[in-house]
Amino acid sequence: MPGPDRTPRRIALANQKGGVGKTTTAINLATALATKKRVLVIDLDPQGNASTGLGLPRADRGKGSYSLLIGERSLGELMQQTKVPNLFLLPADNDLAGAEIELVGMDDREHRLKQALEAGAEALKGFDFILIDCPPSLGLLTLNALVAVESVMIPLQTEFFALEGVSQITRTIDRVKRALNPRLQLDGIVLTMFDRRNNLSELVAADVRAFFRDKVFETVIPRNIRVSEAPSHGLPVLLYDMRSTGAQAYIKLAAELLRRERAAAKLAGAQAV
Ligand SMILES: Nc1ncnc2c1ncn2[C@@H]1O[C@H](COP(=O)(O)OP(=O)(O)O)[C@@H](O)[C@H]1O
Ligand SMILES: [Mg+2]
Repeated sequence: MPGPDRTPRRIALANQKGGVGKTTTAINLATALATKKRVLVIDLDPQGNASTGLGLPRADRGKGSYSLLIGERSLGELMQQTKVPNLFLLPADNDLAGAEIELVGMDDREHRLKQALEAGAEALKGFDFILIDCPPSLGLLTLNALVAVESVMIPLQTEFFALEGVSQITRTIDRVKRALNPRLQLDGIVLTMFDRRNNLSELVAADVRAFFRDKVFETVIPRNIRVSEAPSHGLPVLLYDMRSTGAQAYIKLAAELLRRERAAAKLAGAQAV
Protein backbone atom coordinates (compact mmCIF):
# COMPACT_ATOMS: atom_id res chain seq x y z
CA MET A 1 0.00 0.00 0.00
CA PRO A 2 1.19 3.52 -0.68
CA GLY A 3 3.12 5.01 2.16
CA PRO A 4 6.49 6.59 2.80
CA ASP A 5 8.29 3.23 2.68
CA ARG A 6 6.70 1.87 -0.46
CA THR A 7 8.98 0.56 -3.15
CA PRO A 8 8.84 2.22 -6.54
CA ARG A 9 6.71 0.68 -9.24
CA ARG A 10 9.09 -1.05 -11.66
CA ILE A 11 8.20 -1.25 -15.34
CA ALA A 12 10.31 -2.69 -18.18
CA LEU A 13 9.92 -1.44 -21.75
CA ALA A 14 10.56 -4.58 -23.73
CA ASN A 15 10.21 -5.95 -27.24
CA GLN A 16 12.90 -7.94 -29.02
CA LYS A 17 12.21 -5.94 -32.14
CA GLY A 18 14.27 -2.79 -32.58
CA GLY A 19 12.87 0.54 -33.69
CA VAL A 20 9.42 0.07 -32.16
CA GLY A 21 9.58 2.96 -29.69
CA LYS A 22 10.93 1.39 -26.48
CA THR A 23 13.50 4.07 -25.85
CA THR A 24 11.27 6.92 -27.01
CA THR A 25 8.55 5.69 -24.66
CA ALA A 26 10.97 5.23 -21.76
CA ILE A 27 12.28 8.80 -22.12
CA ASN A 28 9.00 10.55 -22.71
CA LEU A 29 6.73 8.56 -20.44
CA ALA A 30 9.31 9.07 -17.68
CA THR A 31 9.41 12.81 -18.36
CA ALA A 32 5.63 13.09 -18.32
CA LEU A 33 5.44 11.07 -15.10
CA ALA A 34 8.13 13.25 -13.53
CA THR A 35 5.80 16.26 -13.53
CA LYS A 36 3.97 14.51 -10.69
CA LYS A 37 6.22 11.68 -9.53
CA ARG A 38 9.85 10.89 -8.83
CA VAL A 39 11.19 8.69 -11.60
CA LEU A 40 14.36 6.74 -12.42
CA VAL A 41 15.16 5.58 -15.95
CA ILE A 42 17.56 2.66 -16.21
CA ASP A 43 19.26 2.40 -19.57
CA LEU A 44 19.88 -1.30 -20.13
CA ASP A 45 20.58 -1.06 -23.85
CA PRO A 46 24.27 -1.04 -24.87
CA GLN A 47 23.33 1.45 -27.60
CA GLY A 48 22.61 3.91 -24.81
CA ASN A 49 19.95 5.82 -26.70
CA ALA A 50 17.95 6.57 -23.57
CA SER A 51 21.06 8.12 -22.02
CA THR A 52 21.74 10.24 -25.11
CA GLY A 53 18.10 11.24 -25.36
CA LEU A 54 18.12 12.39 -21.74
CA GLY A 55 21.10 14.63 -22.37
CA LEU A 56 24.00 12.34 -21.54
CA PRO A 57 26.10 11.71 -24.64
CA ARG A 58 28.46 8.74 -24.76
CA ALA A 59 31.56 10.74 -23.85
CA ASP A 60 30.01 12.09 -20.63
CA ARG A 61 28.47 8.90 -19.31
CA GLY A 62 31.05 7.34 -17.05
CA LYS A 63 29.83 4.33 -15.16
CA GLY A 64 26.29 3.05 -15.25
CA SER A 65 24.16 -0.06 -15.56
CA TYR A 66 27.09 -2.36 -16.40
CA SER A 67 28.91 -1.30 -13.27
CA LEU A 68 25.74 -1.97 -11.30
CA LEU A 69 25.18 -5.42 -12.83
CA ILE A 70 28.68 -6.65 -12.11
CA GLY A 71 28.47 -5.29 -8.58
CA GLU A 72 31.27 -2.77 -8.93
CA ARG A 73 29.27 0.28 -7.79
CA SER A 74 25.97 0.83 -6.02
CA LEU A 75 22.84 2.40 -7.43
CA GLY A 76 23.25 5.47 -5.24
CA GLU A 77 26.73 6.10 -6.63
CA LEU A 78 25.65 5.60 -10.22
CA MET A 79 22.38 7.39 -10.80
CA GLN A 80 22.41 10.93 -12.05
CA GLN A 81 19.94 13.79 -12.01
CA THR A 82 18.80 14.80 -15.52
CA LYS A 83 17.80 18.27 -16.71
CA VAL A 84 14.23 17.31 -15.92
CA PRO A 85 13.34 17.91 -12.27
CA ASN A 86 12.42 14.66 -10.49
CA LEU A 87 13.87 12.55 -13.29
CA PHE A 88 17.02 10.52 -12.68
CA LEU A 89 19.03 8.31 -14.99
CA LEU A 90 21.17 5.24 -14.56
CA PRO A 91 23.08 5.53 -17.84
CA ALA A 92 24.33 2.71 -20.03
CA ASP A 93 28.10 2.68 -19.72
CA ASN A 94 30.27 1.93 -22.68
CA ASP A 95 31.10 -1.54 -21.33
CA LEU A 96 27.49 -2.69 -21.28
CA ALA A 97 27.80 -4.44 -24.64
CA GLY A 98 30.05 -7.02 -22.99
CA ALA A 99 27.61 -7.74 -20.17
CA GLU A 100 25.42 -10.05 -22.24
CA ILE A 101 28.35 -12.48 -22.46
CA GLU A 102 30.03 -11.79 -19.12
CA LEU A 103 26.82 -12.35 -17.19
CA VAL A 104 26.58 -15.92 -18.50
CA GLY A 105 29.32 -17.08 -16.15
CA MET A 106 28.15 -15.14 -13.09
CA ASP A 107 26.17 -16.34 -10.06
CA ASP A 108 22.50 -15.38 -10.09
CA ARG A 109 22.94 -14.15 -13.61
CA GLU A 110 19.25 -13.40 -14.15
CA HIS A 111 18.79 -11.80 -10.72
CA ARG A 112 21.62 -9.28 -10.68
CA LEU A 113 19.56 -6.22 -11.46
CA LYS A 114 16.84 -7.21 -9.00
CA GLN A 115 19.44 -7.72 -6.28
CA ALA A 116 21.14 -4.43 -7.08
CA LEU A 117 17.84 -2.57 -6.84
CA GLU A 118 17.13 -4.24 -3.50
CA ALA A 119 20.59 -3.29 -2.28
CA GLY A 120 19.94 0.27 -3.48
CA ALA A 121 16.68 0.64 -1.54
CA GLU A 122 18.07 3.56 0.44
CA ALA A 123 18.88 5.52 -2.74
CA LEU A 124 15.42 4.71 -4.11
CA LYS A 125 13.58 6.17 -1.14
CA GLY A 126 10.95 8.61 -2.36
CA PHE A 127 10.96 7.25 -5.91
CA ASP A 128 7.60 6.32 -7.41
CA PHE A 129 8.60 4.74 -10.71
CA ILE A 130 11.53 2.94 -12.28
CA LEU A 131 11.36 2.55 -16.06
CA ILE A 132 13.84 0.15 -17.62
CA ASP A 133 14.72 0.57 -21.28
CA CYS A 134 15.63 -2.88 -22.66
CA PRO A 135 17.81 -3.76 -25.65
CA PRO A 136 16.17 -5.17 -28.80
CA SER A 137 16.78 -8.81 -27.87
CA LEU A 138 15.60 -11.34 -25.32
CA GLY A 139 19.05 -12.05 -23.92
CA LEU A 140 20.32 -11.80 -20.37
CA LEU A 141 19.97 -8.02 -20.14
CA THR A 142 16.26 -8.13 -20.94
CA LEU A 143 15.92 -11.17 -18.68
CA ASN A 144 17.48 -9.21 -15.82
CA ALA A 145 14.93 -6.46 -16.42
CA LEU A 146 12.00 -8.92 -16.48
CA VAL A 147 13.15 -10.47 -13.22
CA ALA A 148 13.58 -7.07 -11.56
CA VAL A 149 10.17 -5.60 -12.43
CA GLU A 150 6.56 -6.34 -11.70
CA SER A 151 5.24 -4.98 -14.94
CA VAL A 152 6.19 -5.09 -18.63
CA MET A 153 5.08 -2.57 -21.18
CA ILE A 154 5.42 -3.60 -24.83
CA PRO A 155 5.64 -0.78 -27.35
CA LEU A 156 4.26 -2.01 -30.65
CA GLN A 157 4.78 -0.14 -33.88
CA THR A 158 1.47 0.29 -35.68
CA GLU A 159 2.51 -1.35 -38.93
CA PHE A 160 1.38 -4.30 -40.97
CA PHE A 161 3.38 -6.98 -39.17
CA ALA A 162 2.75 -5.57 -35.70
CA LEU A 163 1.42 -8.80 -34.21
CA GLU A 164 4.12 -10.88 -35.76
CA GLY A 165 6.88 -11.43 -33.25
CA VAL A 166 4.80 -10.26 -30.34
CA SER A 167 4.22 -13.88 -29.34
CA GLN A 168 7.96 -14.18 -28.79
CA ILE A 169 7.97 -11.54 -26.09
CA THR A 170 4.69 -12.70 -24.52
CA ARG A 171 6.01 -16.28 -24.36
CA THR A 172 9.18 -14.99 -22.71
CA ILE A 173 7.07 -13.10 -20.19
CA ASP A 174 5.11 -16.30 -19.40
CA ARG A 175 8.30 -18.27 -19.01
CA VAL A 176 9.89 -15.70 -16.69
CA LYS A 177 6.67 -15.56 -14.69
CA ARG A 178 6.69 -19.34 -14.24
CA ALA A 179 10.36 -19.82 -13.51
CA LEU A 180 11.85 -16.63 -12.12
CA ASN A 181 9.37 -13.91 -11.22
CA PRO A 182 5.80 -14.96 -10.36
CA ARG A 183 4.71 -11.32 -9.84
CA LEU A 184 5.44 -10.35 -13.42
CA GLN A 185 2.49 -8.92 -15.37
CA LEU A 186 2.05 -7.70 -18.89
CA ASP A 187 0.63 -4.31 -18.04
CA GLY A 188 0.13 -2.95 -21.35
CA ILE A 189 0.76 -2.68 -25.00
CA VAL A 190 1.38 0.80 -26.32
CA LEU A 191 0.73 1.44 -29.97
CA THR A 192 3.43 3.71 -31.34
CA MET A 193 4.13 5.59 -34.57
CA PHE A 194 0.47 5.59 -35.47
CA ASP A 195 -0.17 7.30 -38.79
CA ARG A 196 -3.58 8.91 -39.01
CA ARG A 197 -3.35 9.39 -42.76
CA ASN A 198 -2.89 5.70 -43.28
CA ASN A 199 -5.95 3.43 -43.08
CA LEU A 200 -3.67 0.53 -42.38
CA SER A 201 -2.79 2.04 -39.00
CA GLU A 202 -6.46 1.89 -37.99
CA LEU A 203 -6.74 -1.71 -39.15
CA VAL A 204 -3.62 -2.76 -37.30
CA ALA A 205 -4.74 -0.97 -34.13
CA ALA A 206 -8.14 -2.73 -34.32
CA ASP A 207 -6.38 -6.07 -34.80
CA VAL A 208 -4.11 -5.58 -31.81
CA ARG A 209 -7.06 -4.50 -29.64
CA ALA A 210 -9.12 -7.51 -30.74
CA PHE A 211 -6.26 -9.76 -29.67
CA PHE A 212 -5.01 -8.10 -26.48
CA ARG A 213 -8.22 -6.30 -25.46
CA ASP A 214 -7.87 -4.13 -22.34
CA LYS A 215 -4.14 -4.83 -22.20
CA VAL A 216 -3.79 -2.18 -24.91
CA PHE A 217 -3.54 1.40 -23.73
CA GLU A 218 -6.27 3.66 -25.10
CA THR A 219 -3.66 6.32 -25.73
CA VAL A 220 -1.96 5.89 -29.07
CA ILE A 221 1.36 7.57 -29.85
CA PRO A 222 1.22 9.22 -33.28
CA ARG A 223 4.09 9.33 -35.71
CA ASN A 224 5.43 12.83 -35.20
CA ILE A 225 8.61 14.35 -36.57
CA ARG A 226 9.24 16.33 -33.35
CA VAL A 227 9.49 13.04 -31.43
CA SER A 228 12.30 11.87 -33.68
CA GLU A 229 14.12 15.23 -33.66
CA ALA A 230 14.18 15.64 -29.89
CA PRO A 231 16.93 13.08 -29.04
CA SER A 232 19.51 14.82 -31.21
CA HIS A 233 19.04 17.83 -28.90
CA GLY A 234 19.42 15.61 -25.85
CA LEU A 235 15.89 16.47 -24.81
CA PRO A 236 12.63 14.62 -24.25
CA VAL A 237 10.01 15.80 -26.75
CA LEU A 238 8.07 17.28 -23.84
CA LEU A 239 10.87 19.82 -23.38
CA TYR A 240 11.78 20.13 -27.04
CA ASP A 241 8.26 20.89 -28.26
CA MET A 242 5.66 20.59 -25.56
CA ARG A 243 2.79 21.36 -27.92
CA SER A 244 3.66 18.73 -30.52
CA THR A 245 1.21 15.86 -30.95
CA GLY A 246 3.93 13.47 -29.76
CA ALA A 247 4.51 15.32 -26.49
CA GLN A 248 0.78 15.59 -25.85
CA ALA A 249 0.33 11.86 -26.47
CA TYR A 250 2.99 10.98 -23.91
CA ILE A 251 1.33 13.27 -21.37
CA LYS A 252 -1.92 11.40 -22.00
CA LEU A 253 -0.18 8.04 -21.74
CA ALA A 254 1.29 9.00 -18.34
CA ALA A 255 -2.13 10.09 -17.11
CA GLU A 256 -3.65 6.82 -18.33
CA LEU A 257 -0.92 4.80 -16.63
CA LEU A 258 -1.48 6.62 -13.33
CA ARG A 259 -5.22 6.04 -13.66
CA ARG A 260 -4.66 2.33 -14.26
CA GLU A 261 -2.27 2.09 -11.33
CA ARG A 262 -4.80 3.72 -9.03
CA ALA A 263 -7.55 1.38 -10.23
CA ALA A 264 -5.29 -1.66 -9.72
CA ALA A 265 -4.29 -0.51 -6.22
CA LYS A 266 -7.93 0.00 -5.29
CA LEU A 267 -8.81 -3.47 -6.52
CA ALA A 268 -5.91 -5.00 -4.59
CA GLY A 269 -7.02 -3.09 -1.49
CA ALA A 270 -10.60 -4.33 -1.88
CA GLN A 271 -9.40 -7.92 -2.27
CA ALA A 272 -7.22 -7.64 0.84
CA VAL A 273 -10.14 -6.84 3.18
N1 LIG B 1 6.10 8.62 -32.35
C1 LIG B 1 7.17 8.71 -33.15
N2 LIG B 1 7.17 9.53 -34.23
C2 LIG B 1 8.26 9.61 -35.04
N3 LIG B 1 9.39 8.94 -34.84
C3 LIG B 1 9.47 8.12 -33.77
C4 LIG B 1 8.36 7.96 -32.88
N4 LIG B 1 8.73 7.07 -31.93
C5 LIG B 1 9.99 6.70 -32.20
N5 LIG B 1 10.44 7.32 -33.31
C6 LIG B 1 11.76 7.17 -33.94
O1 LIG B 1 11.88 5.83 -34.38
C7 LIG B 1 13.18 5.32 -34.12
C8 LIG B 1 13.10 4.10 -33.22
O2 LIG B 1 12.55 4.45 -31.97
P1 LIG B 1 13.19 3.93 -30.61
O3 LIG B 1 12.38 4.51 -29.50
O4 LIG B 1 14.65 4.19 -30.60
O5 LIG B 1 12.91 2.38 -30.74
P2 LIG B 1 13.55 1.14 -29.93
O6 LIG B 1 14.07 1.68 -28.64
O7 LIG B 1 12.41 0.19 -29.76
O8 LIG B 1 14.63 0.58 -30.79
C9 LIG B 1 13.95 6.46 -33.51
O9 LIG B 1 14.68 7.13 -34.50
C10 LIG B 1 12.88 7.36 -32.93
O10 LIG B 1 13.28 8.72 -32.88
MG1 LIG C 1 16.01 1.49 -27.85
